[in-house]
Amino acid sequence: MQIIILGAGAGGGLPQWNCGCRNCDAARAGRIPAMTQSSIAVSADGLNWAVINASPDLREQLGATRALHPTGLRVSPIRSVLVTNGDLDHVAGLLTLRESQPFDLFATPAIQAVLAENPIFQAMNPQFVTRKPVALDQPFALLPGLTARLFAVPGKVPLYLEGEDVQTDLLGEQTVGVELTAQDGAGQQGRRAYYIPGCATVPDWLKARIDGADLLMFDGTLWQDDEMIRAGLGRKTGRRMGHAPVSGADGSIAALDGVRLGQRIFVHMNNSNPLADPGSPETAQAVAAGWQIGRDGMEISA
Ligand code: MLT
Ligand code: MN
Ligand code: ZN
Repeated sequence: MQIIILGAGAGGGLPQWNCGCRNCDAARAGRIPAMTQSSIAVSADGLNWAVINASPDLREQLGATRALHPTGLRVSPIRSVLVTNGDLDHVAGLLTLRESQPFDLFATPAIQAVLAENPIFQAMNPQFVTRKPVALDQPFALLPGLTARLFAVPGKVPLYLEGEDVQTDLLGEQTVGVELTAQDGAGQQGRRAYYIPGCATVPDWLKARIDGADLLMFDGTLWQDDEMIRAGLGRKTGRRMGHAPVSGADGSIAALDGVRLGQRIFVHMNNSNPLADPGSPETAQAVAAGWQIGRDGMEISA
């Protein structure tokens, strides 16, 4: 299967409009690559594409990605859109897709309900956009030649739906990972990839589930759990936001160390994350541990 990282950044992107931190200033000055917000495109045949997560930057991302350009008068190669949670960085781009283009919109029933409760999403003309609720752990055809399966990962409800008490490692329909399997020529199950842009912890069952996959794209939001607090950028830890840190004894690099994976790539990096800087010691450390750092426009074969 082919994958294009449309946006490697977390919510806010890099540079973030209201942020003067070191990374944001460096990205504005062109010293490090900018990152648009969290999204990938995937295809089994190079002709039919699915967009997974619809970021607020989707319009620019589609413009920058040749494989997703129209192939005729009002003909788009995008057949499906899938969202992994209801966070704004993953759903706001749905409003960009309102131009009477037929596609299927996949999400869990709980996320479909969040979208249905927001009348602004009626801007996606129901005559053309078919909303398809998909139950956890049920395989479904995302595209010709490509099967997807959504599974619960530790996470929380979207920020705009948070109440007084927030459980940050809920296991349910509100935050999911995506398993992608491409059929080989004989119709047998072939290559296997995982896309998990938000994940609060890395439990043993998750490691067992992804073991042996050809590709993992995983939550790289924060290098250190408290990096936003230390940098004076906010009051929340990564865990409070539903994101396991990358580094440290309980970080995702260490947790996933023994898991067998063809390729492992961080996505959904926050602008505070030193992985945003290709020249940082932290980037060198992640690369030495076998990880690639997702960048906008990166093309991956799995
Ligand atoms: C997140 O990944 O934590 C969210 O995108 C935060 C947000 O909604 O801004
Ligand atoms: Mn996010
Ligand atoms: Zn910043």
